[in-house]
Amino acid sequence: MDDVIDRNTGADADAGDDDTPMLSSHTLAALKEFLSEQNGLLVANNDGATVAEDEKEVSLVTEDWRLSQFWYDRETAEAVAREVHALYTSMDSPPSVACIACPTLYVYLKKLHHDLPVQLLEYDNRFKQYGNEFTFYDYNQPLDLPSSMKHAFRIIIADPPYLSKECLEKVSETIGFLKQPGESYLLLLTGAVQHERASELLGLHPCGFRPQHSSKLGNEFRLFTNYDPGLRLGGWEQEQ
Ligand SMILES: C[S@@+](CC[C@H](N)C(=O)[O-])C[C@H]1O[C@@H](n2cnc3c(N)ncnc32)[C@H](O)[C@@H]1O
Repeated sequence: MDDVIDRNTGADADAGDDDTPMLSSHTLAALKEFLSEQNGLLVANNDGATVAEDEKEVSLVTEDWRLSQFWYDRETAEAVAREVHALYTSMDSPPSVACIACPTLYVYLKKLHHDLPVQLLEYDNRFKQYGNEFTFYDYNQPLDLPSSMKHAFRIIIADPPYLSKECLEKVSETIGFLKQPGESYLLLLTGAVQHERASELLGLHPCGFRPQHSSKLGNEFRLFTNYDPGLRLGGWEQEQ
């Protein structure tokens, strides 16, 4: 499919709000076909989502666009995983890492460093296959998490499902809950349109690095951090 998906228009395609994909009629027809095929696949795979991994390739479960699932391409997932790994290894006492709604990153991190302690917070129960490293998470209930996770993480990466103010506010509440007091490292991958909110809510700045997805998205994506990555990730961009 060669169409470009605009993730920045429509709370849903019918309502025409401003935070989920708006598809062209051609894409919509293709999507309907895709969904009906996928419904079959989901039933078939429900108890064992297919993640195949070998030395060279990592393949994830099929993207479910109804859940705003758009996986990173390999270069993006590897670059962010390398950054998290670099942060992890730079610390004296090994920190815990939380991935909020970014399952691809979880998989690439584990591929890079199998023993790295990572908790994946995700809405899609197909990722239950990761056992006790999976925690069900719905951003609508931002604090509905195990008390053991409170202030337990020094590295947190988030990729919220929607580009709305409400979604980022709720995910920010979750980050506040998870984040250890003192020095912690936050990485937010989201649309460039969230620039000001990311700064206001979480004190984040955009990096030069441009996340890319395996499906072509119409929105410009950015990586925001609360720390200066120096020469990594293209550095912090100069504010204009
Ligand atoms: C834009 S995708 C980010 C995925 C990321 N690019 C990756 O490759 O791992 C958003 C993620 O949010 C999850 N999601 C969907 N609805 C959610 C909800 N209500 N609460 C939390 N996460 C949700 C999706 O399953 C998906 O993994």
